[in-house]
Amino acid sequence: MRSGLKIGLALCGSYCTYEKVIAAAERLSGECDLTAIMSETAASTDSRFGKAEDFIARLESITGKPVIKTITAAERVGPGKLFDVIVIAPCTGNTLAKLANAITDTSVTMAAKAHLRNGRPVVIAMSTNDALSGGAMNIAQLLNRKNFYFVPFGQDDPIGKPASLAANFDLIEETVDAALAGRQLQPILLR
Ligand SMILES: Cc1cc2nc3c(=O)[nH]c(=O)nc-3n(C[C@H](O)[C@H](O)[C@H](O)COP(=O)(O)O)c2cc1C
Repeated sequence: MRSGLKIGLALCGSYCTYEKVIAAAERLSGECDLTAIMSETAASTDSRFGKAEDFIARLESITGKPVIKTITAAERVGPGKLFDVIVIAPCTGNTLAKLANAITDTSVTMAAKAHLRNGRPVVIAMSTNDALSGGAMNIAQLLNRKNFYFVPFGQDDPIGKPASLAANFDLIEETVDAALAGRQLQPILLR
């Protein structure tokens, strides 16, 4: 069903989720034509979770293609109709805020904007500590925006980080299938 599907997998700077996202990339690369996109921050930040150049190398090895990591490269997504669906995983609070407010100053937001002009779906797998505080209004806006779909999410640490929400990255494929059928995978709220 996903055979030959062209997927843009866009990674933002939530580094703690990268192993889960790379596992999803490995699963998807078996059946889809996968291209990785990284925000400029993601493509240049070394953290305790790993070095940027190592993540880039792993993604390029999985996809067999260079990572798209500039606005110039991401602009091609629109006129080239490069993808059937873009999956932003992980999506930071920062990128959620930009998408909600039509700000296009990174490779990921450029790819999304270029893709949305073709009326195609964007799937968001969020991971952010401020989702139920400063980020809540941005999420609410995107929930009501055409062609945006969410990988089901829940509170990842309700006691320690009560405003934090994280997607279940194991549900990326099911969310993509539903989004391509014009449907939000339910339940969107997880316990
Ligand atoms: C080690 C580390 C971990 C981070 N984890 C997250 C995170 O899980 N979620 C988030 O929204 N931002 C996180 N950030 C902050 C983002 O990387 C920062 O907001 C950045 O500007 C995001 O840019 P982007 O959205 O263009 O990728 C983290 C930053 C660092 C250095």
